[in-house]
This record gives sequence, C-alpha cells and structure tokens, in this order.
Amino acid sequence: MFSLILGIRSGDREHFVAWVERVFSYIGSPMNDPVWAEDCKDAYRSIGEYVAELFAEARAAADPEPTTLIGMFAARGEQYGLSERDFMGMTVGMVQGGFETTTTLISNTIAMLLQDPHQRSRVIADPGITTTAIEEVLRLAPPLKIDARQALADIELSDATVRAGDTVVAILLSANRDPSVFENPDTFDVGRNPNPHLTFGFGTHFCLGAPLARMQARMAVEELFARFPNMELAIDRLTWRPSALLRRHESVPVLTHARI
Ligand code: HEM
Repeated sequence: MFSLILGIRSGDREHFVAWVERVFSYIGSPMNDPVWAEDCKDAYRSIGEYVAELFAEARAAADPEPTTLIGMFAARGEQYGLSERDFMGMTVGMVQGGFETTTTLISNTIAMLLQDPHQRSRVIADPGITTTAIEEVLRLAPPLKIDARQALADIELSDATVRAGDTVVAILLSANRDPSVFENPDTFDVGRNPNPHLTFGFGTHFCLGAPLARMQARMAVEELFARFPNMELAIDRLTWRPSALLRRHESVPVLTHARI
C-alpha cells in the first residue's frame, strides 16, 4: 500500500525492499566492515537513482491530477518553496523509514500472537482488539530499538551531565518497559490501554508515517487471521536478527493450514 501511495511501480517492489534491507542491515551492524559499508552505499545510491527516475517520469507525464505522492511533489512541489532535491530527500527518507519498519511490525505481531495462545485467542474472538494488540507489540518489540537527540544546552540527567551538542541515544526497547509508566511492563497484554510507548518517537519529529504504519499492520493482521485462523509457527524457536537498530526476527515461517 505504501508503495502505491508513493508511486513505486508494482514490478519494482522486490528491488526496493531488498535495497532498504541492505541499508538497514549495515546501519544496525557494528559498522566496521568496509565491504558491508560499500554495499550499504551502493544500495542507498540505487534508491536515490530509482527515486530520481520516478521524479523524471512524473515530471514528463505532467499529470494535472496526480494520484501518487511523487506525482504530487513533481507537479506542485515548487508552490511550497522546496526544490526537487528537497522532495527527493524526503522521499528517500520515507522509503528508508517506512518499509522495513512496517514489515517488521507485521512480522513481530504475527510472531508474538502465535507464541502466546491466550493473547491470540483474544484477538481471534474480538478482532476489534487488533488495534490495541498492535500498540502492545510496538511497545514490547519496537521495530527501531533506538532513537537519538542532540542536546541544545547542558542538561543534568540522573547523575550524568549531557553537554550542549552531545548526542544522546534513547533505548526505546527499555523506555517502553519503564515500570513507573507501565503496570506489569514485561507482560504481553493485547488489551493494554492506555499504552504511551515511545516507538514512534516524541515531539516535533514524531514519526510522520505512524498512522499509515498502524493502519497497514491492522489490515494485514486482521486479514491474515481471518484467512488462516489455524496459522501456526513452522519452527519451535525464532531468532532475533543481531542488530543494534532493528528488533526483528531473521524470519517468521508459518504453516497456514489454509481453508480457502
Ligand atoms: C512501524 C513502523 C514505523 C516505526 C516504528 C517508525 C519509527 C520512527 C521513529 C522512531 C522516528 C523518529 C521520531 C523521533 O525522533 O521523535 C520516525 C520518524 C519518521 N518516520 Fe517513521 N516509523 C515507522 C513507519 C514510517 C512510515 C510508514 C513512514 C512513511 C510514510 C515513516 C516516515 C517517517 C519520517 C518521514 C520521519 C521523520 C519525521 C521528522 O523528522 O519530522 N515512518 N519514525
């Protein structure tokens, strides 16, 4: 759905997903392997070149009523005082931030529900609860484990001093289990409400795509469980991908026992 909104050609989605995955693999690694770094740069370049190609096509098509985000940026961008380069940067940012995170949210939700028969049966019995179930997965398994800020002024934080200009990395995975905020923080409760997790960040830079990610995850999970109510994990143990950035499994193989 996100690629449709952006204006990515349907036949190109596989490439796109692979490029984004290569970028994120490197960012989440110790970043000390020059070959891997080169691969990441190469994938980044491919995303940039591809987005530039889509912009050129959209400009040439000059559609007066564009229906994709890239079409709209290309047709009306200048009205907002932003250059094509600005819009390309935003599009690449959205692509990078929007694909891997959302697919991870969907696979984490499926994995957590299949590993917890009681919570799963609550979702099957009341699909309306899927919305809070997804928030709970966002809290316990945030697709991005960390977020960062740069201090504008010196600040005392617990027993440390953060100097102006310092970068502070917040571990969302940990903040989302803060016992002073969440009752039974380690318990997976698909009905938890309110659920003030920090998985989409906070303040001015709060995730632009949060409503879209939530909607896509809800639709995917509802549809999967409606079509495959007997779905189960195909392996006993799932492994988390070693990454400082992403909270995702290497894979989540399932048996669908399809009853089509
Ligand atoms: C589950 C899915 C997603 C997660 C976990 C996620 C997470 C985040 C986080 C943690 C931030 C930083 C917020 C901050 O520092 O306060 C962010 C920013 C951002 N996200 Fe997402 N994101 C997701 C999906 C998306 C999607 C689908 C899009 C594209 C439509 C998107 C576009 C952006 C953009 C453009 C920003 C930068 C906002 C700004 O700087 O003002 N994200 N996201």
